[in-house]
Amino acid sequence: MKYYNLVMTEEISEVKLPFEEKIKTKGWTYVSPKKYLELHKETLKDGFWLSLAQKLDWFKKPTIEKTEEKRFFWKWFPDGVLNMSYLCLDSNLKTRKNKVAFFWLGEDGKEKVMTYGDYYRLVNRLAYALYHKFGIRKGDAVSVYMPLIPETPAVLLALARIGAVFSVVFSGFSSQALHDRIIDSKSKLLITADGYYRRGKKILLQENVRNAIHNTDIQNILVFRRLGEGWEKGEKESFSDEILDDTSPSIYFEPEKVESSHPLFILYTSGTTGKPKGILHDTGGYAVLLYATMKWVFDASEDDVFWCTADVGWITGHSYVVFGPMMLGLTSVMYEGVPDYPHPGIWWEIIERYGVSIFYTSPTAIRMLMKYPDEYVKRYDLSSLRLLHSVGEPINPEAWTWFFEYVGGKRCPVGSTWWMTETGGVIISHTPGWKLVPLKSGTNAFPIPGCSVSVLRADGTPADAGERGFLVIDNPFPGMLLTIYGDDKRYVDTYWSRFEGKFYAGDYAIKDEDGYIWVLGRADEVIKIAGHRIGTYEIESSLVGYEGVVEAAVAGVPDEVKGEVPVAFVVLKEGVSPSQELKQKLINIVRNSVGAVAVPKDIFFVSKLPKTRSGKIMRRLMKAVFVGKELGDVSTLEDEATIDEVSKAFYEFKEELKSRSSE
Ligand code: WTA
Repeated sequence: MKYYNLVMTEEISEVKLPFEEKIKTKGWTYVSPKKYLELHKETLKDGFWLSLAQKLDWFKKPTIEKTEEKRFFWKWFPDGVLNMSYLCLDSNLKTRKNKVAFFWLGEDGKEKVMTYGDYYRLVNRLAYALYHKFGIRKGDAVSVYMPLIPETPAVLLALARIGAVFSVVFSGFSSQALHDRIIDSKSKLLITADGYYRRGKKILLQENVRNAIHNTDIQNILVFRRLGEGWEKGEKESFSDEILDDTSPSIYFEPEKVESSHPLFILYTSGTTGKPKGILHDTGGYAVLLYATMKWVFDASEDDVFWCTADVGWITGHSYVVFGPMMLGLTSVMYEGVPDYPHPGIWWEIIERYGVSIFYTSPTAIRMLMKYPDEYVKRYDLSSLRLLHSVGEPINPEAWTWFFEYVGGKRCPVGSTWWMTETGGVIISHTPGWKLVPLKSGTNAFPIPGCSVSVLRADGTPADAGERGFLVIDNPFPGMLLTIYGDDKRYVDTYWSRFEGKFYAGDYAIKDEDGYIWVLGRADEVIKIAGHRIGTYEIESSLVGYEGVVEAAVAGVPDEVKGEVPVAFVVLKEGVSPSQELKQKLINIVRNSVGAVAVPKDIFFVSKLPKTRSGKIMRRLMKAVFVGKELGDVSTLEDEATIDEVSKAFYEFKEELKSRSSE
């Protein structure tokens, strides 16, 4: 493996890094990797997280760090009592009532600026209405199908204020996906918006919502107006302005005092079966991890302007658009649109306009923006930036270097924060707010304080430096999921059984000779499309739902911008002939049953799929054949198969693809 060591400072004497660039320090404390690991060891002691937790504004401060109720089910800070909405709003009122919480910018240029006081008032009114009008109580599940509009954080905070459990469904997901998540979470209320702008087009949500709620328990639908059109009010439906008009602007709704392990939200994410997993998060552990990572990873402080570009439909939007920044009382930016619309410099324009100092985005967005002429980024004054991070997928050295040079002006540390929906917050990252190790382009660097990670071989022994293995988190940590909603067994099987007693992340990783972690990608049937997590099974199940399809397999193949994209291999029923129309039909089926993010780049009609003797589809082999690899590269890829099986399947599939290549 090739490393690019981009930063070297005089303070580091133990490591010799062959690099010329220097970063202008802004109060960072540099340490060598060796020193980092020494200091880090100190943080792994019992009581470390408890002492940190004490810094939060609890109703009742915890005195116990954690208990293990039954094997693998931990409760963090079990005797602590708090409320997330209180932490994000009430705690900030004294000193930050008129401080800007969000600068929101719509794709159509519409701007809205909301202070902490604005949110406090809106959240109190909303919570009151949700409680009195819709009968929402502590523990009730509520589905939220909202785009990135200024009211979205208020909705989540209002639900948290009541102690209700919210389940956000990405607004780009299909009605089928929304339906499944409403059913699984048993929601009685759905909160949504009339629509949003995407690349100049008005995207309306009413039809999706109407199609999703059939045969569910939904009794009420609350609609926020973003477009002000495209929603005909129907039965069970109320507009937010109507219900808010019934409340007084200065109404106070007392936050429910919840125990630390009270669930804050469910977020559905893809796993290795067709059914998405409802990842259930607690309140106290999650809050502590966010607080800690906002400080260590993002080095956030009072004067910063924070911009995390994620959508609220994904975990990054939950943790680092809404709760992390609001707990710290930061000023943040929210942009409705895509990175290059209405023009390819819009993100840089926004950074200049609001003076963003901490910028958190995805490698896909960076790769997309670096394709445009450099003039777009050079045109704007980005000198307010001081720290850059990426998330969601590995960042390739080229994208890292461009981000470092053109966006960060070689002044700003650039990190790649590794974490998952299940971990709630960042687990592996550069930690400039604590100690900063030399940067290497594309590494995830080290576990944060209080967490330990390892790279293991399949047999559970530690991999050597530079050897690919499976990433595990060695110890339970605050912020980790409570369970998979309604499926404790799947929780234990998925995360704690592959390597007994360690949290199995499902990623391949390498630890290099300095101890840096490099996460390489998923080791299971999950793909990251533009950083979005989609299970190959989800796409496959929608394809086989079509009557003419016997079998389907989906593999993630490399894509220059999106990192990975799905391609599908489909076996048709006898008598059904392949055609362009059929391809289009299948693509629409995926769009309607999963969502536009999951649409295959191409579909190949084949006569059979390569399988192991035990019947497992060899997806990795298919991917390797598709991208033109040789047999030598793939013979060890399929765990359960013998070399002979793989070799036979490899040549057969290669022939098959050659003879049926798609037009
Ligand atoms: C991948 C996103 C490499 C990884 C917060 C993980 C990454 C999955 C990185 C979780 C990174 C996330 N470098 N890979 N910095 N960050 N991943 O649940 O494969 O949407 O398992 O959470 O994203 O995706 P999820």
